[in-house]
Amino acid sequence: MNSIQLNDGRKMHFLHHVCEDDTAPTIVFVHGFPLDHSMWLEQLPLQQHASLLMLDLIGFGESDPIAERTTMKEMADDVANLVSKLGIEKVIFCGLSMGGYIGWEFASNHREMLDGLICCNTRAAADDEVTARARGVAASQVLQTGSDAVATMMCQKLFSDATQSDRPGLVKKIGDVIRKTEPKAIAAGQLAMSVRQDFSSALSDIEVPTLVVSGSEDSITTPEEMALMAMEFPCVTSVTISDAGHLAPFEQATVFNHAVVHWLSAFSSSAE
Ligand code: MLT
Repeated sequence: MNSIQLNDGRKMHFLHHVCEDDTAPTIVFVHGFPLDHSMWLEQLPLQQHASLLMLDLIGFGESDPIAERTTMKEMADDVANLVSKLGIEKVIFCGLSMGGYIGWEFASNHREMLDGLICCNTRAAADDEVTARARGVAASQVLQTGSDAVATMMCQKLFSDATQSDRPGLVKKIGDVIRKTEPKAIAAGQLAMSVRQDFSSALSDIEVPTLVVSGSEDSITTPEEMALMAMEFPCVTSVTISDAGHLAPFEQATVFNHAVVHWLSAFSSSAE
C-alpha cells in the first residue's frame, strides 16, 4: 500500500498497479460504505487490461481520519486530487454503492478527468425523508455502541443467500473491515449520504461509455431499480450478475471481471 498527502495535508492510502500496455486506460475503484480498498482485491487480474488504482477514502481503511462532517463532493474531490497527484489525466471511475454516489459528483465536477464509468450496485436518487432521518439515528447510535453492531447488521443485508450460506469467509472479511472502521467515519458517512444530491436527471449528460452492474439478489439497490437507472445513460451496457447481492464485484469476482474485460474491449475500439 502507498500513501500520498492530499492538497490539504490528509494522507490517503492506495494501491496503484500500472498495466504493461501504456495505452491501456486507468480504472479507479471507489469502495462502498463502510468498507475499504480490499473489497476490490479480486479485481487485480484486470491489471492485464488496465492500470488499476484502488484507494481507501479518507476515514476508511488506512487513510487519515475523517472530519465530523463531510460530503460526497468532498470525497469525489479527494479522488480527483489523488488521481492528479499521480499524474493520471483520465480515469474510468468504478464505484460501488456509496462509491457510485461519489461517482456522480466526480462526473459532475471533474468531467475533464472522466474516460468512462462503471456503476455497481448503486442509485442516482437521493434519500427520501424517512431514509435520511434513519441515517441520522444510525449515526448517533454508532457513536455510542461502536462498529460491531453495524458489522453484524450489514453482513446480514449485503450478500446473496448463496454467499451467506456457502462462503462464510467472504462474509467474515467484510465484517472484519467494518469492525475495524472508526465509528466516527461510519457516522460521518451516514450523514454525508443523507444529504447527498439527487443526480437522476443528470445521468443523460454523462456521455462517456458506462457499464451498469447489478446483483440479481441485491435487496438494497435492486436490479429492477438499476435497470431503470441504466436507461438514462446515453452510452450504456448493463449486466446483472447471478447469485450476487449488494457486493456483486466481490461476491462474483470472476463474472464481474469478465464483464469489465468485455466492456473494455468495446470501449477501446470506440476510442480509436
Ligand atoms: C453502500 O454499500 O455503500 C451502502 O449501502 C450505501 C447506502 O447506505 O446507501
